Amino acid sequence: MNLNKLSESDLVNLAIDLKKKKNCVILAHNYQSLPIQKIADFVGDSLQLAKLAVQSKADMFLFCGIRIMGETVKILNPDKKVILAHKTADCQLANMKSSEELKELKQKYPNAEVVCYVNSSVTLKVKSTITCTSANAVKLIARLPIEKKIIFVPDRNIGKWVEFKTGRKLIMFDSYCHTHNQITLSETLQVRQKYSDYSLIVHPECDIEVCKEADEVLSTSQMIDFISKNDKVIIGTETGLFDQMKDRYPAKKIIPLSQKMICEDMKQTTLKIAVQSLIDEKNEVIMDEDVIKKTRRSLDRMFQILL
Ligand code: 13P
Repeated sequence: MNLNKLSESDLVNLAIDLKKKKNCVILAHNYQSLPIQKIADFVGDSLQLAKLAVQSKADMFLFCGIRIMGETVKILNPDKKVILAHKTADCQLANMKSSEELKELKQKYPNAEVVCYVNSSVTLKVKSTITCTSANAVKLIARLPIEKKIIFVPDRNIGKWVEFKTGRKLIMFDSYCHTHNQITLSETLQVRQKYSDYSLIVHPECDIEVCKEADEVLSTSQMIDFISKNDKVIIGTETGLFDQMKDRYPAKKIIPLSQKMICEDMKQTTLKIAVQSLIDEKNEVIMDEDVIKKTRRSLDRMFQILL
């Protein structure tokens, strides 16, 4: 079928028809473009989507986002078929540091707990002892025994925010998310001054100085909750979340901290690409059983610590 000739509404109808026929559930990350969010059964953060998939009776999931997040769905749903909407959309932060570099760090600190942010490559996850998310990193690290050394990978900005909030010292890489890290304190202060009666919420992947200036430092799902209860908000994260919130709350005064906060990888998935992937089922997430077992173990430790 040649999808090039189809209009947006034809593509939407085709996606709806195909997912019904294939008993497929479409999962989309909060940063996906609006047309993708519209065909999705669930829109959320990566761990939220993976957990929703566990409760689903679908035979197959189409993941719209980036590879590392599709892998999290597979880790929690090893017996299900997980298809990536875009084959090569990946995360620069996740791939900035290799497993060799983590191995060296572990050799230097052999007794350290290795806490790995869920938005990371499996090569790092597999060498880690606990997973965390942007929503729970502070809480989780605050609960680890005080005498324990902690290696925190891969995002240094979340790590610095955790250090600031908990007073713990973390051993970190210098990797970061370029979409969030590019926002400077002076840009933030300018927007703050212009919209002085708005609340500023930012993602912890932003620079520590930007985080300190914010009213709240939140994960994407926590941001959605915050916006549901507040009418004037500046959003400091990838613009997909701003698009989703503007669409959901047209009467609220919501502005993005910066229009530059666009993740090129997240935006690679177009409606046409997602529908093509649903037709072909070619981009399946295939993971080694042992890798699934090890990464699952570090996710389970997170669930236990947060009980
Ligand atoms: P959360 O959706 O878990 O907050 O993280 C999104 C993300 O990938 C930030 O770059």
